[in-house]
Amino acid sequence: MSKQLILALSKGRILQETLPLLADAGIKPIEDLGSSRKLIFDSNLEHVKLVVIRAVDVPTYVQMGAADLGIAGKDVLLEHGAEGFYEPLDLEIARCRLMTAGPVGSRPTHARRRVATKFVNVARRYYAEQGIQAEVVKLYGAMELAPLMNLADEIVDIVDTGNTLRANGMEPREMIDEISTRLVVNKAAMTMKHRQLKPLIERLQEAVVSRRAA
Ligand code: ATP
Ligand code: PRP
Repeated sequence: MSKQLILALSKGRILQETLPLLADAGIKPIEDLGSSRKLIFDSNLEHVKLVVIRAVDVPTYVQMGAADLGIAGKDVLLEHGAEGFYEPLDLEIARCRLMTAGPVGSRPTHARRRVATKFVNVARRYYAEQGIQAEVVKLYGAMELAPLMNLADEIVDIVDTGNTLRANGMEPREMIDEISTRLVVNKAAMTMKHRQLKPLIERLQEAVVSRRAA
């Protein structure tokens, strides 16, 4: 097994918060990720390469061992399932909540609730645990629109400030989970590349702890 480490980063919102944290941990891409069409980047650490991919793909890359480590939201990890990787560190960035939500003032009346979400596995699990019959409808975005268009009674989505819900006449209902960004590590790599991985995980942990104190 190569002693090179591949770290998979989630594009978008998480990347904006990840790069300063990586910098605090002494890990920097050698070129600007934003202004390049490249997907693989060298870092200032000779043995660490960075790949920038869609957040939903990070667990797959890490589980399959194409990347040794990854950075992804807990929401994405819950939806994907946790086989094939460890989750050694909460990076404490991109905090939000996974919640159910619905139109202001209304309560779901149907015995069988229709729920729109991109988190279909999380939603099925959650409603089953609550003993609520739910028909889960997969959407890829703009979940807040679904109840307005009578596509669903309720949604399961990320809530941070609540502004998106409010702007669409919706309100949060039940909390499913607290979400933040996590470091995940391929299980085989954790054993085979432990000597390279350990200092990297420690650097990140120190960066997280020192931010907490700041
Ligand atoms: P893609 O663009 O690949 O479809 P996405 O739209 O889910 O992905 P982002 O909106 O960039 O990607 O969000 C990525 C992650 O950031 C989510 O998985 C979640 O962990 C976190 N997140 C999403 N929305 C918020 C928010 N409003 N506040 C804080 N964190 C959030
Ligand atoms: C996310 C999420 C919610 C919103 C919640 O969307 O899907 O729509 O943030 O945040 P709030 O409670 O602070 O309004 P995002 O802004 O990432 O856009 P997206 O639909 O492209 O994912």
